[in-house]
Amino acid sequence: MDVALAAALGGPRGANPLVGAVVLSPGGEQLAVGYHRGAGTAHAEADAILEARRQGVDLAGTTMVVTLEPCNHVGRTGPCAQAIIEAGISKVIYAVDDPHDPAAGGARTLQAAGVDVESGLAADQALNLNREWFDAVATKRPFVTLHIAQTLDSRIAAVDGTSQWISSPESLADNHGLRGLIDAILVGTGTVLIDDPRLTARASDGSLAERQPLRAVMGLRDVPEDAAVRGTDGLFVHLKTRDPAEALSQLFHQGVRHVMVEGGSSILSTFLAAGLVDELIVYLAPTLLGSGTPALNDLGITTLADAQHWAWDEAGGGAVQNLGNDLRLHLRSMRSAATTPAASTTKNSIPRSEAAEYVTGGH
Ligand SMILES: NC(=O)c1ccc[n+]([C@@H]2O[C@H](COP(=O)([O-])OP(=O)(O)OC[C@H]3O[C@@H](n4cnc5c(N)ncnc54)[C@H](OP(=O)(O)O)[C@@H]3O)[C@@H](O)[C@H]2O)c1
Repeated sequence: MDVALAAALGGPRGANPLVGAVVLSPGGEQLAVGYHRGAGTAHAEADAILEARRQGVDLAGTTMVVTLEPCNHVGRTGPCAQAIIEAGISKVIYAVDDPHDPAAGGARTLQAAGVDVESGLAADQALNLNREWFDAVATKRPFVTLHIAQTLDSRIAAVDGTSQWISSPESLADNHGLRGLIDAILVGTGTVLIDDPRLTARASDGSLAERQPLRAVMGLRDVPEDAAVRGTDGLFVHLKTRDPAEALSQLFHQGVRHVMVEGGSSILSTFLAAGLVDELIVYLAPTLLGSGTPALNDLGITTLADAQHWAWDEAGGGAVQNLGNDLRLHLRSMRSAATTPAASTTKNSIPRSEAAEYVTGGH
């Protein structure tokens, strides 16, 4: 399970949880490792099965160890429970139940097909791995990534309003890659009125990516009829509210499961102050402005003891990456999950205390 948990970190955070899977021979030898690379790509179980097949491994009688209950639904990819059954895997050990309604129930499907199923192994580590995702699912809101492109002195625009581009071409390309993965991108009316951004996902030659996010603008002022953000593809929404929770609720009801909040200062600050940010991506350019628009406004914090604390996040490429001349900093929220998933429903549940002991004892 430790190997599966480590493999899971290879994927990006977002609409789907980080998941890792390992295939073991009947003798306990590690045969293949897989992980999920983000929404729309193979799930960890399918990835591990593919990897095993690439190596010519006969999967009959093997055991799969996976960090999350195998899914039961046909989303953009097929159900993992079925793939496991068809592969002839005879035992599945997973850490935590899938709390996501349409996906849950994979364990029951496996058991009904005669697969031996155990759950609860390293459950605490697996919960912690996807703490923010479990929180978003439990509270029925999209997973929230906050994006900031800033100077060394935390400015996101100069005094005259110029902000294009603070970050390097490599950081811009990275940002556009993310835009192609998320469901929605959100900015405030201020940014629209000042910058008139398109908010599309584009390749470095300017061409549009195949998958485009919904473009959401938040605030009470009207969005001009000729604003670039409106586009012509119908992927535009004006969220006439100043309440970040209301904005997220509106997006959730439109099917958005991962939103990237891109600015400006007022919008970034309001999401942070409300504790509604799961992931922080900061592109730090080695430049100074000394004045101009600060990345953040008042977060309602007046004493150091109340400072927000963030944890460096190794998932999806690492906590600190060099992108051209910039640093890309990746952090995750340190608030605890609002709700933990329901207790396991499988017959062979490993109690949490025992699972923890199992993991400690094994290493
Ligand atoms: N470097 C970067 O990464 C980056 C990214 C984006 C923007 N920027 C820069 O950021 C600057 C704009 O920042 P900004 O703060 O003026 O604009 P903003 O955050 O984009 O929008 C501010 C507006 O949002 C509305 N709003 C909605 N909910 C709100 C809330 N809870 N609290 C406060 N306002 C709320 C208000 O307008 P209503 O009256 O309409 O409600 C407010 O005036 C621009 O210079 C832009 O270039 C930089």
